[in-house]
Amino acid sequence: MSEPRVTAGAPAVDEVQYEAGLRPRSLADYIGQDRVRDNLDVSIAAARGRSEALDHVLLYGPPGLGKTTLAYVIGNEMGVPVRATAGPVIEKAGDLVAMLTNLQPNEVLFIDEIHRLAPAIEEILYPAMEDYECDIVIGQGPSARSIKVPLQKFTLIGATTRAGLLTSPLRARFGIVHRLDFYAEADIEEIVRRSARILGVEIEGDAAGEVARRSRGTPRIANRLLRRVRDFAQVRADGRITLDVAHAAMRLLEVDDQGFDEVDRKLLRTIIDKFSGGPVGVNSLAAAISEEKDAIEDIYEPFLIQAGFLDRTPRGRVVTARAYEYFGLTAPRKDSQLW
Ligand SMILES: Nc1ncnc2c1ncn2[C@@H]1O[C@H](COP(=O)(O)OP(=O)(O)O)[C@@H](O)[C@H]1O
Ligand SMILES: [Mg+2]
Repeated sequence: MSEPRVTAGAPAVDEVQYEAGLRPRSLADYIGQDRVRDNLDVSIAAARGRSEALDHVLLYGPPGLGKTTLAYVIGNEMGVPVRATAGPVIEKAGDLVAMLTNLQPNEVLFIDEIHRLAPAIEEILYPAMEDYECDIVIGQGPSARSIKVPLQKFTLIGATTRAGLLTSPLRARFGIVHRLDFYAEADIEEIVRRSARILGVEIEGDAAGEVARRSRGTPRIANRLLRRVRDFAQVRADGRITLDVAHAAMRLLEVDDQGFDEVDRKLLRTIIDKFSGGPVGVNSLAAAISEEKDAIEDIYEPFLIQAGFLDRTPRGRVVTARAYEYFGLTAPRKDSQLW
């Protein structure tokens, strides 16, 4: 693996604690994603009004957009604790059963990366979510028998970067499903200013905009860039983040105007140079740029597609005219545009 990218959506190992301090705790502090926020506001108020558990919630979208944050915000707004785990972490059925049976009324069980639950473990969730009960097998061999254990009414919040990888029985059991999208630049700018306030660093208006513009519509990246720019301001300037300081720091970090880094450029350039602009299958592309297929699909592609540099077609990925322009090239005319 190469060194962690400053523009990666996933958190770096040492970033978790720092992120916790910047996390909004209430819906009112949760910036952007207005549609999701408004919907959740109504769902939560209704559940609270009836003193019931909130319906099960599925949150999906690219890394760094605020799924984990939102899970804790929901717990907070419901006034209940959030018990957190993750798909790959639950190895034994008993681990999940223990978590489920320990839940108090209306509490939240948050399962991150829920698409990575083992099938046998996922099946435990079906009756738990639907009927608030758990089947427990007692004993072994021929004398083994299954007994039903009732659970408290609880809320399962699942988060995933890949809703498409969820099995349909699991997906069908979520009453509330929300997709998080890349943030508008103005929202990211507000997040940058809020984070700067919390970090106690002075940032000029146009500098906040500059950081926002290069953050790929992703709060995690915005916060990370802010932190790096703050370091730069402290060491090479008087601590204040001016537009000049922001520019100089970005140059040093090699984050360009689009928020692209080396991998993005390599990905686009490879499709142009080696595959005549595409279409190219994701496997061939992964091999050509020595990145994992999952990383391309989860991390690089979503942003490049939404920014209008890449298209996904039934026959593979194609770069757009915009990508050619970005490299100062002219897009070739294609006679047979089948896509
Ligand atoms: N809507 C938001 N408003 C302000 N900050 C946010 C928002 N969403 C996410 N963040 C910030 O981005 C960071 C990453 O969010 P997180 O919830 O961990 O993303 P995900 O779980 O989707 O990968 C959080 O630490 C938080 O500080
Ligand atoms: Mg998360």
